[in-house]
Amino acid sequence: MSTLDLENLTKKFESGFVALDSLSVSLRSGEFLVLVGPSGCGKSTALRLVAGLEQPTSGDVRLGSKSMLGVPPRDRDMSMVFQNYALYPQMTVFQNIEFPLRLRKIAKDKRTSEVRRVVELLQLSSQLEKKPAQLSGGQRQRVAMGRALIRQPQLSLMDEPLSNLDAQLRVQMRGDIRSLQREFGTTTVYVTHDQTEAMTMGDRVAVLRDGLLQQIGSPEEVFGTPKNLFVARFIGSPSMNLVYGSVQSEANKLSLRLGSQTLDLSSLSPAKAEALRRYNERRVVVGIRPHTLKDPQFSQLKVGYSLRGVVRLRESLGTEIVLHFAIDADRAGAIRSDESEEVALVQETRIIACVDPASTAREQQTVDLVIEPNRLHFFDPETELAIA
Ligand SMILES: Nc1ncnc2c1ncn2[C@@H]1O[C@H](COP(=O)(O)OP(=O)(O)O)[C@@H](O)[C@H]1O
Ligand SMILES: [Mg+2]
Repeated sequence: MSTLDLENLTKKFESGFVALDSLSVSLRSGEFLVLVGPSGCGKSTALRLVAGLEQPTSGDVRLGSKSMLGVPPRDRDMSMVFQNYALYPQMTVFQNIEFPLRLRKIAKDKRTSEVRRVVELLQLSSQLEKKPAQLSGGQRQRVAMGRALIRQPQLSLMDEPLSNLDAQLRVQMRGDIRSLQREFGTTTVYVTHDQTEAMTMGDRVAVLRDGLLQQIGSPEEVFGTPKNLFVARFIGSPSMNLVYGSVQSEANKLSLRLGSQTLDLSSLSPAKAEALRRYNERRVVVGIRPHTLKDPQFSQLKVGYSLRGVVRLRESLGTEIVLHFAIDADRAGAIRSDESEEVALVQETRIIACVDPASTAREQQTVDLVIEPNRLHFFDPETELAIA
């Protein structure tokens, strides 16, 4: 295991297209970093540059402070697992996983004990004599994972390794990969377009958009304090609700108008309040996480901090109820489709709220959902940056 430093890593393809633009990230030894972003944002390009399968236009990749520029992929002491991995079809599970140790001429006893440790973690102990063709997709992926990690490389690179698996298996494999990675302490860069995977697996999450790093931080940081509208919308499920509001600041009173409703913001933290006062009489983008809206029956918060709307649709998930809820708002307060592309999300002010499973809110009913003002997010409509 080793530290990894990406320094202004840039890739401009011959077509002139910049797939990765000056990416700088440092991983501590043993860290699990997830690089996440929509398809085409440059994730695989970044990984291929680290692996040496692609040469950067500028910038550097340092493994344990040693520059990897000019070092061929096989000499970089990194392992890589892709979505489409290949196992040796003629070898058994045991032999497949053992193979990297054989290449390194590790003694037989040691090889056997290492394979045992890995297969136990991956729950493959009963499959050791099978050939890959006799395994399920998930089992094959586990073997590939075991083979990549058993040789304990300085760095492990994974490019959407779970994309081919069904949903249930993906959830299980997420946990297995993390357990294995912790056991070996391998520094890892894991690429995915799936924000849930990023949030559940990463020590830190780096959000990429069009080759540009948007934000890097712990899952709690990128979820709790997204730096811009892109991160706000990309991280979290269901996505953050984004609506326009306008700020009213008079004497000591700070409030937010959402359509015809007014939310009292006097309990806002002093720092947030001060930043928001600069937007007096101006429009801001207000972000509301679905889980921060509560049915008042199940909330300790004072009513008064509530948002009134009509339940258009009620979806019961068992663990919670998802309400599609239209705010009683002027059109002027709603997001209009002629606004900048980034915030033109809805025609009417429809909001998603995830409330207590015992909520009795019915479709077509007018309800007041409680909200804690400090959990609202505010963004500048022009710069799209968080107001902080
Ligand atoms: N060899 C290439 N030449 C030109 N453009 C490329 C090349 N490889 C990838 N790209 C482009 O770079 C962008 C990023 O690709 P990629 O890193 O594969 O994205 P991701 O893995 O995030 O889906 C895409 O728009 C892709 O079309
Ligand atoms: Mg990719």
